[in-house]
Amino acid sequence: MCGIVGVTGREDALDVILRGLRRLEYRGYDSAGVVLADGGAPLQIVKRGGKLANLEAALEDESLVGATGIGHTRWATHGAPTDRNAHPHSDPDQRVAVVHNGIIENWEELKAGLPDAEFSSETDTEVVAHLVAAEVEGGATLPDAVRAVVRRLQGAFALCVQHADTPGMIVVAKREAPLIIGHADGVGYCASDVAAMITHTRDVSALLDDQVAELTPEGMVVTDLDGAPTQAHDYHVDWDLDAAEKQGYEHFMLKEIHEQPQAIADTLRDRLGPAEGPSGTPRLHLDECRIEEGEFGRIDKVFIVACGTSLYSSMVGKLAIEHWAGVPVEVEVASEFRYRDPILDPHTLVIAVSQSGETSDTMAAATHARDQRAPVMALVNVVGSTLARESDAVFYTHAGPEVAVASTKAFTTQLAAFLVIGLYLGQARGRVFSSEIGDILSRLQRLPDQVRQVLELDDTMARLAQQYADVPYTMFIGRHVGLPIAMEGALKLKEISYQHAEAFPAGEMKHGPIALIEDGSLVVALAQAGHTFAKMVSNIQEVRARGASVLAIGTDGLEGDLKAHAHDLVTLPEASHELASPILAAIPLQLFAYHVAVARGEDIDQPRNLAKTVTVE
Ligand code: F6R
Repeated sequence: MCGIVGVTGREDALDVILRGLRRLEYRGYDSAGVVLADGGAPLQIVKRGGKLANLEAALEDESLVGATGIGHTRWATHGAPTDRNAHPHSDPDQRVAVVHNGIIENWEELKAGLPDAEFSSETDTEVVAHLVAAEVEGGATLPDAVRAVVRRLQGAFALCVQHADTPGMIVVAKREAPLIIGHADGVGYCASDVAAMITHTRDVSALLDDQVAELTPEGMVVTDLDGAPTQAHDYHVDWDLDAAEKQGYEHFMLKEIHEQPQAIADTLRDRLGPAEGPSGTPRLHLDECRIEEGEFGRIDKVFIVACGTSLYSSMVGKLAIEHWAGVPVEVEVASEFRYRDPILDPHTLVIAVSQSGETSDTMAAATHARDQRAPVMALVNVVGSTLARESDAVFYTHAGPEVAVASTKAFTTQLAAFLVIGLYLGQARGRVFSSEIGDILSRLQRLPDQVRQVLELDDTMARLAQQYADVPYTMFIGRHVGLPIAMEGALKLKEISYQHAEAFPAGEMKHGPIALIEDGSLVVALAQAGHTFAKMVSNIQEVRARGASVLAIGTDGLEGDLKAHAHDLVTLPEASHELASPILAAIPLQLFAYHVAVARGEDIDQPRNLAKTVTVE
């Protein structure tokens, strides 16, 4: 996820771009860059690693001129967050400049087709600049060149392209990533999000997949990939600026909850490499691997270390790894790990899980493991974060920036990532066949649509939240994959609504916690389809008999049993694999916590006493 802004036909183009980028910085702040055209080559490009402020400081020493330009704020996916990898990217003569949001899946293959080209970054984007330059060199107009290149791209992208020979023109294209265009008073605008354009025009058009638009001061022309005129989705924005940054959502947390279908699709995308070996079968691969892959085949034990929400996804990770890789896994609170004597050696894999990749406790646990010569795999969201850099192998969740303190999409993408990591370790240990991996991965592709379906429960969860907003105590119970979700549900509720909530293994209730139940307590029971379903139904009856109100989260088709015993029932689609079911169950609990906090009037995106990234021990 990155932010793109373009403008053509304004003398103060640079200012307009910088103000737009400021509003899009929530989409990523690993680096920022701008390009301006004033009718000559090379194009004027300035870019810097780090936040937008670094770019603004660099621009003080430059005198960029031109009424047409593009800006970019980056959330790194391919290549570390450095000056070199910052956008715009260009051909060696700086005649073409390209900014990009998304992931071009076949960039390596396209790059291999340009053996003589000089590349100056590690990004997937630069290949587009080279390809467009070659098309224009061959006689194509800029829009034709972009259409020809886009036809060859696989993956998700919003692209914005400029050429020195057509200084008043910007060409944009998109597939599975947002791009909005608009035109007012002789000026053309484009941006990843209307927030960057809203002060200039409120009548905008959302480009549809595989559409290409040509923006000039004279107007905008939208075509399909064959160059035939077509229609984008026109609409009028009536939100104010603050709402626009959140794309119309009241809070970043709600926006990020609704981003989960896309985020999960991005986590699962492009995990199988090209066909290899005598059998010619594709194999799973990691985003980065600085040790010999064969080492994963020799591990005999796994530790997973993490904090908070990441710790709960790790508990599902344990189940996935034990299931597919057949190796014992221990999950440990990162802040405790190095204060005991974990038995570590080069055959122990330590997986450090962190959205930010900067959490001190998790970093310290990973360092402790590396000191004992245990290989460390990082499961992180932020590309180029300290944990990612200092680990032997990295799996990125590609969830995009998470702004709200309460983690949502980072959690469900970690759950999706652990399914792939379980299969990857199973593959390395020769325990799962590639046909099985292919089959499971293709069934997992249903997840984004199923998550979309679950998000339709928003109104239901808002109603239930109103109903239960003032209960004195909420207990979450679950078994097997339901237990970590119960724990995450309780954490979400307490951290944003400040309501007292705890989670217990449903089978443990009778050993003590059931004493807490009294009239008016709320028990949220995770009872999805799976081998512990019948046991959960019994546990629900036990708490209900002692006066609790029961809100059950169950599976379509099994409502019969649950309806008879729960006061309220929320039904979910059946996951394509039992280990994927937590992803669906987490979402109603996120919505529940969100709406309880709204009902209680709390500060949702910045709850008291908490910080997004915890860099103290
Ligand atoms: C809760 C939450 C925290 C984080 C924890 C670890 O919503 O966000 O519990 O999960 O602080 O942070 P990361 O994953 O960045 O290491």
